[in-house]
Amino acid sequence: MTDLVSRSQAFLSPALAFVTDIHAVKAEGVWITAADGKRYLDFSSGLAVANIGHNHPAVVAAAKAQIDSFIHTSDVYRTEPMVALAERIGTIAPPGLASCFFSNSGAEVVDGAVKLARFVTGRQGIVAFTGAFHGRTLGAVSLTTSNVKYRRRSHPLLPAVYHADFPYCYRCPVSRDRDACGLECRADLERIFKTVIPPEEVAAVVIEPIQGEGGYVPAPAEYLKYLRETCDRHGIMLVFDEIQCGMGRTGRFFACQGADVVPDVLLIAKGIASGFPLSVIAAPRETMEKWLPGAHGTTFGGNPVACAAAMATIGVIERERLLDRAASLGRRAAGRLVELSRRFSVIGDVRGPGLMIGIEFVKADGSPAPEACRKVRAACEERGLVLIDCGRDKHVIRFIPPLVTTDAEMDQALDIFQKALDDAA
Ligand SMILES: Cc1ncc(COP(=O)(O)O)c(C=O)c1O
Repeated sequence: MTDLVSRSQAFLSPALAFVTDIHAVKAEGVWITAADGKRYLDFSSGLAVANIGHNHPAVVAAAKAQIDSFIHTSDVYRTEPMVALAERIGTIAPPGLASCFFSNSGAEVVDGAVKLARFVTGRQGIVAFTGAFHGRTLGAVSLTTSNVKYRRRSHPLLPAVYHADFPYCYRCPVSRDRDACGLECRADLERIFKTVIPPEEVAAVVIEPIQGEGGYVPAPAEYLKYLRETCDRHGIMLVFDEIQCGMGRTGRFFACQGADVVPDVLLIAKGIASGFPLSVIAAPRETMEKWLPGAHGTTFGGNPVACAAAMATIGVIERERLLDRAASLGRRAAGRLVELSRRFSVIGDVRGPGLMIGIEFVKADGSPAPEACRKVRAACEERGLVLIDCGRDKHVIRFIPPLVTTDAEMDQALDIFQKALDDAA
């Protein structure tokens, strides 16, 4: 055990569960350097945050320049970085979502969105989905059902939160063949409206267009369109949590742009400021105007250094054409992963747009194979490739490199992954 591991065990709460035991001392682009000098390809992107790579020079420069001016103002003063970033988000978000409320973390904006929807509609009900991950604060965890560990001994949670079946096509909740799919899974939301809470009492439907922690599961575009129509029909606010799938990872700034569905509220965090704590509730001006001044707030939200980093991040995504890069590199990676799935029966499914690829591990009978997934991940890490898992049974690998990954780095990672599959087999 290294000194840092034993000190962290002595002084950090065990509730903080580290994914690896790597002692990182430096990060640059796709690479993490450990204290023992070993270098790792970070294909976790620091948990879906370093979309433009670690310590991008443009982000470092923007943050340093901002620190020289002022670090913190809270909502005591108006500042240029916060307003400029809100304007800028209006240029990348789906049309109409031009008013921003800034916070610090993903869970915090989920809580904020629930408050906003309840405030604006005057209704209480919230519908989320099975397998969802929206964070771990008491509000957000009430919507999270990806794993019971987040909820254990925390009850009672927020009342009037209900969960409909997520359209997890590989493990279809209504046992349909993909080819025979008529979106029969819609029936579960209809069931909730008919038997649990009438739609006119529901404030918001909250969904990840691509589930993250739940297993890297994209909702079909038709399902998102169905939700849009249903919410319109009943005056319910449709909230898209793009905290993990947003900021370029799918080959668009936001996954919903690929499905051509515009939510009433868009939640952004993780990749937006390349590691500085920043999150956003984006909604139309008319919606935000119904939220009275002071109804919500936070001391550090919209911190000027984080906003400057976010401006630089968006600039890099555009200048370096990283949306196109995510799409083309993602196609290349997925092609080779699909080939591997034909050779190794332990891979049941390879899915997801752009560089948001999920690799689902299965046993011969099709049930989840967490042990195989763990072995492959460990063998990859040994060879210098960091991958993280997800899924209820920890049986899905998230293949989420930074969008600045070069062809050579991608080939190196795929070679390591293939060798790890060989080892595990
Ligand atoms: C889709 C989604 N929503 C919300 C969250 C919560 O974000 P945070 O950990 O910043 O509170 C996460 C974090 O992984 C996430 O992936």
